[in-house]
Amino acid sequence: MKAALVTGAATRGGAAIARELHRRGLTLLLHHSPRSVVQAQALAGEMNAARSESAATWCADFSDPAVRVPEWVVDAAVEVCVCNASVWEASTLADCDRAATDWNVHVASHAAVLAALKASLRSIVTITDVHADRPARGHLWYTTTKAALQAMTMALAADWSPRVRCNVVQPGTLTWPEGWSDRARQESVRRGIPLAREGSFEELAAAVGWLALDAHYVTGQILAVDGGRSRVLCD
Ligand SMILES: NC(=O)c1ccc[n+]([C@@H]2O[C@H](COP(=O)([O-])OP(=O)(O)OC[C@H]3O[C@@H](n4cnc5c(N)ncnc54)[C@H](OP(=O)(O)O)[C@@H]3O)[C@@H](O)[C@H]2O)c1
Repeated sequence: MKAALVTGAATRGGAAIARELHRRGLTLLLHHSPRSVVQAQALAGEMNAARSESAATWCADFSDPAVRVPEWVVDAAVEVCVCNASVWEASTLADCDRAATDWNVHVASHAAVLAALKASLRSIVTITDVHADRPARGHLWYTTTKAALQAMTMALAADWSPRVRCNVVQPGTLTWPEGWSDRARQESVRRGIPLAREGSFEELAAAVGWLALDAHYVTGQILAVDGGRSRVLCD
């Protein structure tokens, strides 16, 4: 049975992606932060109840500049890696702490994971953001480091071809950020989305599943899962 590693897999979009890959028959390595031990173990329990020995958890704080991938993860012969772990915080150019954390979470830790798994990998999907190409105001280091993660994926599509397919999914608005209870603002965002609604984590997961497992002649591509918003985005 093929194995997949999903980073930031315990909650929200990462959990939906992990469930989709598990539903497709893969064994799952669920990476999670130290904040999400309970949720990660619950998800692994749910998967192992459905299919025995089909999921395991790996806890690592990706804000640590020296993340080490344990031997047992390398030995799991991971063929599919989904780079999903992410932190979304406001920042400006002078915010050095934010720059370091966003770099470590989005780029350095994923680089360490991919380097460690290189020998067994066949398909990489990284999750960035439509704002990696069209910056939103006030999130400079999020934008910069998501764009770097995207560039790293494109570079790997060249360097690791033809053995490893490497693609990017750019979500638009999937769920409202926490604290966004402003109905008027939600309606104004919806008006900018051609499909007139926010997306779901399951819709993100379906796109990731397709790129990871079905799109055998697709590499080096960036797929926006945004209801068409990036075609009309102006803010
Ligand atoms: N939701 C949206 O509308 C939207 C829009 C554009 C792009 N995206 C992208 O789509 C993906 C899924 O979205 P989401 O809303 O589910 O993302 P999210 O909740 O912001 O974060 C994804 C995961 O990253 C993990 N993470 C954060 N800091 C970490 C650290 N220091 N070490 C290890 N793991 C860490 C989180 O774990 P903890 O929960 O334990 O912190 C979480 O499970 C993300 O890559 C996100 O950037 C989402």
